[in-house]
Amino acid sequence: MQCREASPAPCNGAIRFSLSDISSEDPILSLTLKPRHAVRAKISALGTYVPPRVLTNADLEKMVETNDAWIVERTGIRERHVVDKGIATSDLAAEAARRCLASRGIQPTEVEAIIVATVTPDMIFPSAACVIQNKLGATGAWGFDLSAACSGFPYALQVGAKLVESGAHKKVLVIGADVMSSIIDYTDRSTCILFGDGAGAVLLEPCEEGETGLIDFWHEIDGSGAVSLNMPAGGSLLPASHETVDKRQHFVYQDGQTVYKFAVRKMAEAAERVLERNGVAGTELACFIPHQANKRIIESTAHRLGMPMERVILNIDRYGNTTAGTIPLAMQTAREEGRLKKGDLVLLASVGAGFTVGATLLRWEF
Ligand SMILES: CC(C)(COP(=O)(O)OP(=O)(O)OC[C@H]1O[C@@H](n2cnc3c(N)ncnc32)[C@H](O)[C@@H]1OP(=O)(O)O)[C@@H](O)C(=O)NCCC(=O)NCCS
Repeated sequence: MQCREASPAPCNGAIRFSLSDISSEDPILSLTLKPRHAVRAKISALGTYVPPRVLTNADLEKMVETNDAWIVERTGIRERHVVDKGIATSDLAAEAARRCLASRGIQPTEVEAIIVATVTPDMIFPSAACVIQNKLGATGAWGFDLSAACSGFPYALQVGAKLVESGAHKKVLVIGADVMSSIIDYTDRSTCILFGDGAGAVLLEPCEEGETGLIDFWHEIDGSGAVSLNMPAGGSLLPASHETVDKRQHFVYQDGQTVYKFAVRKMAEAAERVLERNGVAGTELACFIPHQANKRIIESTAHRLGMPMERVILNIDRYGNTTAGTIPLAMQTAREEGRLKKGDLVLLASVGAGFTVGATLLRWEF
């Protein structure tokens, strides 16, 4: 192939090139290259949804050998929301997305891409993004799912931001949603007390003049942690069989203490790294929005960052660990409590199955 003709004359803001082979019998290829303008991305809207049914610690006392005092002391959780039969992750996610778009006055048809962080899609395929796109009527959007467990939302946020920052898209919906009750063994007291169901969605758009939006992130994965937190069966390694069901392998398995130790160390490390390289001290943050897995993990991270607890957003008492839903749900709590305002410097941090680790620094812009 050789470029026989290159006409750089702009055509509707685009540059048109014509390429052809030396042989006159070959077809002529024509490329129209759109100019790309790098921009900053910001969160411009937020919407959340949890199912109405509440599962309290007192309810769990009737199901397994546990008690309210132990759960509150060891985790900080008092209650969590769970779906009724027949309600799936896409239902929670679609409602969160509707609320998000409505708050910004945007029609679903204007959304250009949908990224869904989840480990509990309605089914293995099609993606939750496809199901949600159809439920929303977001007919102009493409999209996909992202699997990073409890770090799913911050990871999806970065991927969505890159679509905006590259100039490829102007309206990207990022959703974190999980129906953990669908994969929890309610005979296992060490895991069933921790998790709940919920969803949150944010809209990403280009920053306006004078806005900063998303600033920086630090992500890490450590696959050696897979043995400590996983759902063993239902994938290609152990497809569903009578044996996998009998062995209760379609539920979350967790070595709680190993996960706890890793989370305490890595959440602080990732947060410190992103703060340090941006020259920000913990004390300068208006708000710290951590993944809500265990109150003690959050307190320990805040302590190490020198963050007073008044600036840490905590709602684990009401929702438990909703996996990809926790950070947008905590953003919503911060908004409702008047603790998240335009211009605020905010840090997100997470640790999840994988292991996955993430920290995000951003300015809240609405
Ligand atoms: C699961 C977790 C709350 C357990 O707390 P812990 O303080 O580590 O408790 P341990 O596992 O050491 O168990 C202590 C005792 O409490 C018991 N126990 C466990 N669950 C209990 C429950 N729900 N109620 C009462 N007792 C319980 C244990 O059996 C153990 O008893 P033993 O000493 O007689 O063996 C904690 O390990 C944790 O939060 N891990 C991280 C979870 C996490 O973040 N997961 C998601 C990652 S995103």
